[in-house]
Amino acid sequence: MAEGSKHSLQDRVAIVTGASRGIGRAIALHLASMGAKVVINYTSSSAQADLVASQINAGSSVPQAITARANISDPAQVKSLFDAAESAFNSPVDILVNSAGVLDSKFPNVFNTTIEDFDNTFNVNTRGAFLCCKEAANRIKQGRGGRIICLTSSTVASSKEGYGAYAASKAAVETLVKILAKELKGTGITANCVAPGPVATEMFFSGKTEEMVKAAVEACPLGRLGETDDVAPVVGFLASDAGEWVNGQVIRVNGGYV
Ligand SMILES: NC(=O)c1ccc[n+]([C@@H]2O[C@H](COP(=O)([O-])OP(=O)(O)OC[C@H]3O[C@@H](n4cnc5c(N)ncnc54)[C@H](OP(=O)(O)O)[C@@H]3O)[C@@H](O)[C@H]2O)c1
Repeated sequence: MAEGSKHSLQDRVAIVTGASRGIGRAIALHLASMGAKVVINYTSSSAQADLVASQINAGSSVPQAITARANISDPAQVKSLFDAAESAFNSPVDILVNSAGVLDSKFPNVFNTTIEDFDNTFNVNTRGAFLCCKEAANRIKQGRGGRIICLTSSTVASSKEGYGAYAASKAAVETLVKILAKELKGTGITANCVAPGPVATEMFFSGKTEEMVKAAVEACPLGRLGETDDVAPVVGFLASDAGEWVNGQVIRVNGGYV
């Protein structure tokens, strides 16, 4: 990426939550390829997070990526995540991408959903997104292309059976982010959601039968599952100066399935 281009993230510091695996991993690699310094957040997969960081750091003398363990549903750990970013790169954070999330792989109907599973879904997906957005809004540097991007889900629009608590937890984030974008008036910080459809990751395959996977492929006009690299460039665009005019939006990235 040419330095000085509106698509460059040179000298920007980005935190990507849930970047040890799946969509978050692809986003971290993509933002790094655009020049950003990246914090690879995870909650338990430290070896996988280390691999992502070493892939980014390969061949460079100064580290462009670090890893930071933090459970995003814990306010103290979210604060420490921002502290780690600031101290590693000696700069305020510019970009938050909140990709960490959970999905109940039992796909229960609303009337079968246990309170524990409901609470766990909302703890990570909604409370976690709120805590990350709150910290980002308070700590992202103003007046230089600050960005808040939350991964939500096209299930908010498809209202698919078995996804009640999950889709509701993401719908709450979409509303929160749209309001946050307005509240950030005057800061130059934009806030958006990227809402993928089915993407081939551990989250997607966990608990699904072959028939369920086939049904997801058939529901998509393009006749395939999404790949993590279908999503990462959209986040990269929103994170860049070129994406400034997209603000307060939910961008569905799903091959046309809803
Ligand atoms: N895949 C899809 O079909 C799809 C579709 C629509 C939306 N999405 C959304 O896209 C995002 C990424 O999904 P994915 O498919 O990449 O999921 P994934 O493959 O299951 O990866 C989840 C990531 O989130 C991290 N994580 C989970 N709980 C966390 C917590 N409490 N604190 C910090 N990190 C946590 C995991 O860390 P560890 O590795 O340490 O466990 C992992 O890095 C999620 O928000 C998901 O809801 C996914």
